[in-house]
Amino acid sequence: VGGRIRPVHPSELATHNKKNDAWLAIRGRVYNITHYLPYHPGGPEELMRGAGIDATDLFDKVHPWVNYDSLLAKCLVGPLRFDRPDAE
Ligand code: HEM
Repeated sequence: VGGRIRPVHPSELATHNKKNDAWLAIRGRVYNITHYLPYHPGGPEELMRGAGIDATDLFDKVHPWVNYDSLLAKCLVGPLRFDRPDAE
């Protein structure tokens, strides 16, 4: 909903692991997949395997050809960040 893009620490990503609040990371970008879950062709349960984590490997094992960045453009939260969790 037009929120601003900002970095996400893995510890924050990990808290978004529920069906009504699900984020995942692919190749360093964090997406809010909550609203995409019902539309995932592989089903919500499959997609939820990646919730709260870096799902790059899971994603690539199944369908490396899928253009996730385009499909989830509106769902981008921001880059995955490993340092300075409290800094801006
Ligand atoms: C299909 C799993 C993430 C988009 C599938 C299928 C599986 C799967 C098992 C095959 C369904 C079938 O053929 O019956 C997963 C897992 C993911 C993941 C484990 C991460 C944890 C994503 C993401 C997107 C996505 C992030 C895009 C936003 C699609 C699309 C298909 C699909 C478009 C159909 C692909 C095709 O038929 O070529 N997924 N998925 N998936 N998934 Fe995912």
